[in-house]
Amino acid sequence: MCKSVNSVKEWEVKVKLLGNGKVAKLKNSMVSKSPMKLWILRAITTALLWTCVIQLMALGEMWGPRLLKGWPSCFSHPEVELPSVPAKVVLPPKRIYKNNGYLIVSCNGGLNQMRAAICDMVAIARYLNVTLIVPELDKTSFWNDPSEFQDIFDVHHFITSLRDEVRILKELPPRLKNELNWECSTHCHQLVGQTCLTTSIRNVCQQILPLVQKYKVVHLNKTDARLANNGLPLEIQKLRCRVNFNALRFTSQIEELGRRVVRILREKGPFLVLHLRYEIDMLAFSGCTQGCNSEEVEELTRMRYAYPWWKEKVINSEMKRKEGLCPLTPEETALVLSALGIDPNVQIYIAAGEIYGGDKRMKSLATTFPNLVRKETLLGPSDLKFFQNHSSQMAALDYLVSLEGDIFVPTYDGNMAKVVEGHRRFLGFKKTISLDRKLLVGLIDQYKGSLSWDEFSTTMKEVHADRMGSPKPRVIIPEKPKEEDYFYANPCECLQLLDEPLSST
Ligand SMILES: *[C@@H]1O[C@H](CO)[C@@H](O)[C@H](O)[C@H]1NC(C)=O
Ligand SMILES: *[C@@H]1O[C@H](CO)[C@@H](O)[C@H](O)[C@H]1NC(C)=O
Ligand SMILES: *[C@@H]1O[C@H](CO)[C@@H](O)[C@H](O)[C@H]1NC(C)=O
Repeated sequence: MCKSVNSVKEWEVKVKLLGNGKVAKLKNSMVSKSPMKLWILRAITTALLWTCVIQLMALGEMWGPRLLKGWPSCFSHPEVELPSVPAKVVLPPKRIYKNNGYLIVSCNGGLNQMRAAICDMVAIARYLNVTLIVPELDKTSFWNDPSEFQDIFDVHHFITSLRDEVRILKELPPRLKNELNWECSTHCHQLVGQTCLTTSIRNVCQQILPLVQKYKVVHLNKTDARLANNGLPLEIQKLRCRVNFNALRFTSQIEELGRRVVRILREKGPFLVLHLRYEIDMLAFSGCTQGCNSEEVEELTRMRYAYPWWKEKVINSEMKRKEGLCPLTPEETALVLSALGIDPNVQIYIAAGEIYGGDKRMKSLATTFPNLVRKETLLGPSDLKFFQNHSSQMAALDYLVSLEGDIFVPTYDGNMAKVVEGHRRFLGFKKTISLDRKLLVGLIDQYKGSLSWDEFSTTMKEVHADRMGSPKPRVIIPEKPKEEDYFYANPCECLQLLDEPLSST
C-alpha cells in the first residue's frame, strides 16, 4: 500500500531498485544480452507474475470468488469466453446501520470524470451512513448524451455488490420527494467543494452530517468537487477502488461488444491503444491549435467563446503547447511513437471520437503506422447503431478496449487517460506510457532543428523509461492537491502486491 510521507525515503530507494531493473530491461533488449541482465529480467518477471497471483487471491478473499469470473487478469486472455451459464451469485450480507438520510447525486462531465465521482460519492455516503440514490448522469455536457446510469452500467450489480457497505436505491422513496431542500443542497455542495480537495473525509462529514440529519434529503447537483487523493482512511481508499474496479461494471451489451472488438484485434496479434485526444471539444476548450489552418483556428475559437462553461477565452496556443498543456497532434504522435521504438507494423486502435481534421490530419500517423484501426472499422454499422448517438457508450467501449491493449498511450492527461492508467495498474501493471509532453514538445522542436533522429529517439526512451505504469508511490503535495498524482491514476493502496516484490528483492 501507499506509505505516508515519513517513509517516502525508503520507498524511493526501493523504487529506484525496480526502476533500474526496468532500465536494465530496456537496455538489455536494445544492446547486449549479458547473462546477468537476463537474470535480473527473469527475476523481475517472476516477481511480477507472483504478485499477480497474490493479488488475485487477495481479491478472491475480499470480494467473493464469483467476482473474479470474467475479470480480465494477468493470465486469462480475452479470448477466454465467459461461461454461458452464469455462476451462482453469492451476495455479500447487507450492512445494517442507522440511516442518517438520503443523498442524491447528479454527476457532471464526461464518462470517466463521472466514473471517479461515483466512486467518491459511494465513499461519502458510506461514511455518512446515508442511503445513496443511483447517481444521475450528465445529459447537458458538451457530449449531450441522454444515457442514464443503467444504460451504461449494470445497475443491479452496482446496488447488490455494494450492499455490505451502503444502501443504494434506484430512486428516492415517494414519501420523501417533498423533502428535497435546495438551499441546503447548495450549501452542502459548497462544503464538499471547499473541503474535499484539501482535507480529509472526516472534516467534510462533520460539516455535512448535521445538515443531512436535519433535512433528510440532500442533493449534490454537481460532482466536480472531488474527494482528496490522500490522507483518507485506508478503508475509504479501498472502497473507492472496490467501486471503481468491481461495482462499476458496464452493461452486458457494452461488455459483449467490447470483448468482440478485443477478439478481432487479438486474432491479428498484439495491439497498442492510442487515446488520441484530438477531438473538436478538446481543441476548442484547450485553445490548442498547433497545425490547424486559419479557418480551423477560427472555428475552434468561435466555439470556445460560445460555450459559457469554458471560462478561459483568450489563449496563446504556442505558449500553452510549450508548457506541455496541449494534447499531442496526430503528427507529433507519429514522431513520438516512432522515437519510442514502437513497431510500425503493430495494430494501433484509436480510442477516440472523431479526429478533428479527419483523414487529412491523420495522414502522417497513417503513413508511419499503416495498421490503424478504430471501432468503426472493426465493427459493422449495425453493431454500433445503438451506440452511435451516445458518446458515453462509445467511450465505455473504448474504455474496455483500452484496458486490454498490450500498451496504452494517451496523448493528453485527461480523465480517461488517468482512470485507465490506474485500472491497468490494478490489472497487473500493464504498460501505460505517460508521455512527458512538456519535455517532448521541446525535443520535437529541437529535432526539427539540429537534433539527430538517434539523439531524439534515445532521449525519448530514457525520459520515458520510468513512465510506463510500473509500481511507484503516489506523489503527495499537501499544499497543492491539484498538482499531486490523482488517486485514480495510481490507487496504490489497492495494489497490495506493491509490498511484495519490493520487500523480497
Ligand atoms: C455509522 O454507523 C456505524 C455503525 O455501523 C457507527 O459506528 C458510526 O459512528 C456511524 N457514523 C455516522 C456518521 O453516523
Ligand atoms: C445547482 O443548484 C444550484 C442551487 O439551486 C443552482 O444555482 C445551480 O445552477 C445548480 N447547478 C446545476 C448544474 O444544475
Ligand atoms: C443519430 O443522430 C443523427 C443526427 O442527430 C440522426 O440523423 C440519426 O438518425 C441518429 N441515429 C440513430 C441510430 O438514432
